[in-house]
Amino acid sequence: MRIAVTGGAGFIGSNFVSFFCENHPADEIFNIDKMTYAANPMTLDILKRYKNHAFFRIDICNYDEMEKVLGDCEFVVHFAAETHVDRSLQSAGSFLKTDIFGTFVILEIVKKLKSFKKFIHVSTDEVYGSIESGSFTEDAPLNPTNPYAASKASADLLVLSYVKCFHIPAVIVRFTNNFGPFQHPEKFIPLAITNAMENKRIPLYSNGTQVRDWLFVQDTCRAIEILIERGSPGEIYNVSAHQERQNIEVLDRILSLLGKDKNLVVHVPDRVAHDKRYSLSCEKIRKLGFRPLFNFEQGLETTIKWYQQNQQWWKTIKDNEEFKNYYRSMYPSL
Ligand SMILES: NC(=O)c1ccc[n+]([C@@H]2O[C@H](COP(=O)([O-])OP(=O)(O)OC[C@H]3O[C@@H](n4cnc5c(N)ncnc54)[C@H](O)[C@@H]3O)[C@@H](O)[C@H]2O)c1
Repeated sequence: MRIAVTGGAGFIGSNFVSFFCENHPADEIFNIDKMTYAANPMTLDILKRYKNHAFFRIDICNYDEMEKVLGDCEFVVHFAAETHVDRSLQSAGSFLKTDIFGTFVILEIVKKLKSFKKFIHVSTDEVYGSIESGSFTEDAPLNPTNPYAASKASADLLVLSYVKCFHIPAVIVRFTNNFGPFQHPEKFIPLAITNAMENKRIPLYSNGTQVRDWLFVQDTCRAIEILIERGSPGEIYNVSAHQERQNIEVLDRILSLLGKDKNLVVHVPDRVAHDKRYSLSCEKIRKLGFRPLFNFEQGLETTIKWYQQNQQWWKTIKDNEEFKNYYRSMYPSL
C-alpha cells in the first residue's frame, strides 16, 4: 500500500515514518512537509536511509501540489500542524491557516479519490481543555482554551462534518503530551534536557503544578498503526499511557537523571489561560488491543540518552537566530 504522511519531518511524524518504514518494508511512504522552523533538515537526512520513503517539500495548504502527491495514496496520516501553544499566543494566523485550512485541503482531495481507504487525523487532548479530576471520554464537549487548541478543535469538527456529509473514511485520534527523540527544543521536556546539559537556567511556569499525561512517541506510533489497520471510520479515539505528572516532578526527574542541581530551575510568570490538567479515558483504543509499552521512566531515560548522543541535532536549532529571538521574547529575564 501507499501511505501519505503529512508533517513527517516534525517530531511525531518523523518517528512515525521511521517506525512505519521499518515495520512495513513492502509499503511506500510519501512524506509531505513544508519544513517550517519546527522541522530540522538533519531529520530528513536520517530518514533518507529508508528506501520505501520519498520526501516532498510541500505546504499542505497548496491544493494543486497536494493533489499530485495524494492522488495515488490509499491512506493519509495527517500530523502537519503548527503545534506550539506559546507561539499561538504570540501570533495565531499560521495556526488557523495550517491546522484548519490545511486540513480542509486534504479533506477536499481525499473526497475525490476513488480507491482511498483511510484518513487518520492526528489531534490532541488539548481540544477538551482542562479537567480537575477524572478523565475525558471521546464524547466530551470541546473546550479549547488557546488558539492552538482551538485550531485543532476546529479541524476535528471539519473532519467530522466531512465524515457525515461526504462519507470520508476518517478516524480522529487525540493523544496526550508526547515525548521522545526528535522533539523541537522549544517544547517542555527537550528544553529542560538541553538547557540542563548546557548548564543554562530552565524556565518553569508558575509553581509547576500543572499536570500532563505523558505518552512515549513509540507508543503513539503503535497506536496509529492499530488505527490504520482496525480504526473504525467516523470514530474518535483517545490515546494516553495514564502517566500523569506535575511539570515540576518531570523537571526534578530530568535534573536528577542528568546529575544537575535544582537551582537551574527558574519560576517564570504563568502562561495565560494555562490549562491545569489534561486527562483522557482510553477504553475505545484499548478495545482495539492498544497497550502502551513504555513507562515514563524508561521513555525519559531513552529520550535523555538521545539528546546526549545527538547534540548537533538540537544545537543547530538552538543556535539559529529564529530560536534565539523566540526564546528572548518568551523568557526576557533568562
Ligand atoms: N507533540 C505532542 O505532544 C502532541 C500531542 C497530541 C497531538 N499532537 C499533534 O500531533 C501532530 C504532530 O505534532 P508534533 O509535535 O510532531 O509537531 P511538530 O511541530 O514537531 O511538527 C509539525 C510538522 O509539520 C510541518 N508543517 C507545519 N506547517 C505545515 C504546512 N503548512 N505544510 C506542511 N507541513 C507543515 C512542520 O514543518 C513540522 O515538520 C500535530 O498535529 C499535533 O497537533 C502532538
